[in-house]
Amino acid sequence: MKNIVAIYPGSFDPVTNGHLDLIYRGSKLFDRLIVAIARNMDKGEPLFDMEERKEMLEAMITGLDNVTVDIFSGLLVAYCIQKNANAVLRGIRAVSDYEFELQMALMNRKMEPRVETVFMMPAEKYSYLSSRIVREIAKLSGPLTGLVPEPVEERVRRKIAEKQSLPAGTILK
Ligand code: PNS
Repeated sequence: MKNIVAIYPGSFDPVTNGHLDLIYRGSKLFDRLIVAIARNMDKGEPLFDMEERKEMLEAMITGLDNVTVDIFSGLLVAYCIQKNANAVLRGIRAVSDYEFELQMALMNRKMEPRVETVFMMPAEKYSYLSSRIVREIAKLSGPLTGLVPEPVEERVRRKIAEKQSLPAGTILK
């Protein structure tokens, strides 16, 4: 039997119930799963710093002994080789995710043919959920119940309150 180590990369800003759903599924499929937080260069200023995101993720995976959380920078495929990982796990929610995910998977395979991308679908109830939408709802004081774990909801609200009490003129991303 092969020993499959998979990397689940993402921004996780913040981790959502959709991400956790995928982590549970991935932990059943792979021998080891590394949830790897990275900066997405296409996205603006993050809400949480890397360490805060790591803390939140770690608190959510305590029962899963084949899952760890890490932070990386640079190319995902270089990180995979460094970790001896042979797979990348990505979630696909809707057709709209497909184009970008296909491009990323094929480019990663071109750069590093030893690493395969595996796509998994989260539960349908999370198919409309994203970290971006969680941040937006939270900034507008909307309900986050069922979208993120309770401790994450608390931290999101606290963080947004902190940012909103910054001096006038500060641009919230
Ligand atoms: O959760 P996200 O924002 O969709 O995650 C995107 C992420 C972090 C997985 C992607 O931006 C990434 O892989 N960044 C690392 C840099 C890299 O390898 N870029 C080339 C991709 S083909």
